[in-house]
Amino acid sequence: MAAETSPVLINQRPFDSKSTIISSHHSSVLTNNPNDSIIVAVDDIEIPTVDYTMLFADDLDKRSIALEHMGQVCEDFGFFYLVNHGVSDSTFEGVFKGISEFFNPTEIENRKQYEKKNPTDRIRWGLRSSPGGENREYLKVIAHPQYHCPTKPAGFSEAMEEYFKRLRVIVNGLGKAVSKSMGFEECYIEKAFKLDSGFDMSAMNVYPPNVRSKGSIGVANHTDPGFFVSLIQEVNGGLQILSHNGDWINVYIPPNAIFINLGDQLEILTNGKYKSHVHRVVVDNNKVQRITVATLHGPSLDSFVCPAPEFIDEYHPPAYRGMTYKQSLEANGDDEIDAQSCIEQIR
Ligand code: SIN
Ligand code: FE2
Repeated sequence: MAAETSPVLINQRPFDSKSTIISSHHSSVLTNNPNDSIIVAVDDIEIPTVDYTMLFADDLDKRSIALEHMGQVCEDFGFFYLVNHGVSDSTFEGVFKGISEFFNPTEIENRKQYEKKNPTDRIRWGLRSSPGGENREYLKVIAHPQYHCPTKPAGFSEAMEEYFKRLRVIVNGLGKAVSKSMGFEECYIEKAFKLDSGFDMSAMNVYPPNVRSKGSIGVANHTDPGFFVSLIQEVNGGLQILSHNGDWINVYIPPNAIFINLGDQLEILTNGKYKSHVHRVVVDNNKVQRITVATLHGPSLDSFVCPAPEFIDEYHPPAYRGMTYKQSLEANGDDEIDAQSCIEQIR
C-alpha cells in the first residue's frame, strides 16, 4: 500500500524504537544491489490462531477463554491467523478468479485507465519493478464507506464487494472482541474509531515469480495504517513480519485463513500496548506469481486518534501525538487517496 512507510508514526515514537529496529535489521535489505544475499527469516516461531466463532460462543466459559486468548495474542504478537470467519470458499474463489482476470497480461489496456491521474481517483493501478525497490503490480480501491472497483472483467466488482461486506462484519466483530478483551464495553473500538464511516482501503497485489534480477523486495519494510489489516493470498510465500523480539517471521497462511495484523491507529489508541508490526514482502523465492488482497480497516477519516485516557498513567505517559486518520494518511505518502475530497464526498 502506498501509505505504508508511516514516517509520521515512526517519528512520533519517542521511546518505542520501531525506527531503530528498521535500521538495525534492514540496512542490507534496502540496497540497490539485486545480488544481495537472501533475506533471512525464521520458520520456527508459530503464529497464533484465533477462532472467530469462539469469540461469540454461547458457552460463556468458552467465550471468555477465547477473548482472553485474543487479548493475549494482540499484546504478545500483534498478528494472528483468523479461522472460522465465515468467508465462504466460493467467495475466495470469486475474488481470486476476478483478480487473476483483471491482471491478465492481455488486459493491460483496461488496467492502464486506472493509472493515477488525479489526487481524487478512487481506483488506482500501478506497476512497480525496480532493483532494490518494489516489485509488484497492484490495484487499490476504496472498500468503505463508498465502494469503488473496476467493472471489467464481468463479475470482478461483485466478487470483491461480497468479500468486503463480509470483511466489515468480521472486523466489527474483532473490534468488539478486542474491546471486551481489554475489559471495556463492547462498542469501545467502534466508538473510538467511528466505525459506521470507517475508511477501508484495499490493495490487490500480484507479485511476479523469480524476479531475482530485479531484486528481492516485493514491498519494502512498513507498518500499516488502520486498526486491523486483513490479508488473504492465493499461494504462500513472501510475507515476512518482524516479531517483538526482532526476528523476521515467515508468514505461511493456512488455506482459507485470514492473516490479521494490528495497524498503527490501534497502537496509537492503546498508547503502544498493542503494537503495529513492521512487515515486508520478498519475492526472490517465488516459483509462481502470488496474488494477495491486503485491506486496511481504518477509523473514519475525521476520527481524531490519540492515546486514550484508559491507557495513560504516571508510568505510561502519552507516547504518540494525536491526529485525524485523514492527516495520518496524508502524512504517509504521495500516492494516497486524497482524503479531504473523500471526506467531502462522504458528508
Ligand atoms: C502489504 O503488506 O503491503 C502486502 C502484503 C502481502 O501482499 O503479502
Ligand atoms: Fe502492509
